Amino acid sequence: MNTKIAGLGYYVPEKVTTNHELTNYMDTSDEWIQERTGIKERRYATKHNETTTTMGARAAEIAIERAGISREDVDFIIFATLSPDYYFPGCGVLLQRELGITKTEIGALDIRNQCTGFVYGLSVADQFIKTGMYKNILLVGSEMHSMGLDYSTKGRNVTVIFGDGAGAALIQPTDEDGKGVLISKLHSDGTYAEELAMINPGCHGGYHFDNVENYNYPDPDVPGEIFVTNSMKDNGLFYPNMNGQLVFKNAAIKFMEVIQEALNTVNLNKEDIDILVPHQANLRISQFVQKQLGLKDHQVFNNIQKYGNTTAASIPIALTEAWEQGKVKDGNLVCLAAFGSGFTWGSVLLRW
Ligand code: ACO
Repeated sequence: MNTKIAGLGYYVPEKVTTNHELTNYMDTSDEWIQERTGIKERRYATKHNETTTTMGARAAEIAIERAGISREDVDFIIFATLSPDYYFPGCGVLLQRELGITKTEIGALDIRNQCTGFVYGLSVADQFIKTGMYKNILLVGSEMHSMGLDYSTKGRNVTVIFGDGAGAALIQPTDEDGKGVLISKLHSDGTYAEELAMINPGCHGGYHFDNVENYNYPDPDVPGEIFVTNSMKDNGLFYPNMNGQLVFKNAAIKFMEVIQEALNTVNLNKEDIDILVPHQANLRISQFVQKQLGLKDHQVFNNIQKYGNTTAASIPIALTEAWEQGKVKDGNLVCLAAFGSGFTWGSVLLRW
């Protein structure tokens, strides 16, 4: 018994935000952003009307329809995001409600693996399918970054790269010999956890680092007042931060390692890959990986130019677009790979 992707869907908000528009808020330029990242524009969700959950639901509806099942047939939900509607509960149960299938009382699992969320989710789904536990798993990656970024010049290195959107896959078992997920590889290294992170609000109380003066925490004997403090807001400590160069260097190495590791495990070579759909972190990273693997332009699918980095949503959005454009064909060896905050990284090889 293997695991196949039976249906794919994606949703991106209508509102296009160009690089040029970002220059209204911060000191940046279209030229800098395109040269360093490849990004031309990204989508921003509509405040109050769209959320990470609603975007995920729109993508899920398409994936479910394409799989030829009804939403009541879904027997498990996996939701990957770093920008959830609520701190808790997670988006999985909100998605179930948004899809109108609470009566089914199926399980819903939330995944917090940032850019690697979809790859982790697919690997988890694969295990559930192989054990026979579930037959119609809805896997969603969705992000609404635009609501929580620093639009001042201080935040420009992070803010310009992120966009909003959602992608979904309906995962089923298949009896077709040699088809479906061949292997998945998952990794992490928490050494650099704070180098690409949004650490507030949080319960850390400064434990993981020395420099906590900015936090103005209360006396240790006073209960609470750690998770959210006025100082966090006053000092702009609510925003994601990233050591871009460190992330870039590690991403380039780990993408290659984890793809090669997956190929080795199933006795395949890089020449066997028909199409690579990498997490859309930076076009330069994708191009580096393409070169290392010796792949031609048509064998690597990139859409970061249009959507920016949509984190957990980036692979399912890209895979759906690639499939819609006829670039993922029956019998193709498809390689998915991601690297991101944690650091976490992973790959999946599928025979379509
Ligand atoms: N506009 C103009 N100038 C900028 C901008 C901007 N948006 N951002 C940074 N700069 C400036 C910096 O201030 C710096 O100026 P200085 O030389 O005067 O000090 C200069 O540009 C170079 O800055 P770097 O950070 O060294 O630029 P770099 O070439 O590394 O590009 C980038 C930055 C695009 C963020 C890149 O490092 C990158 O893509 N890193 C990887 C990102 C990634 O893969 N993230 C993982 C996924 S995200 C997740 O998991 C949540």
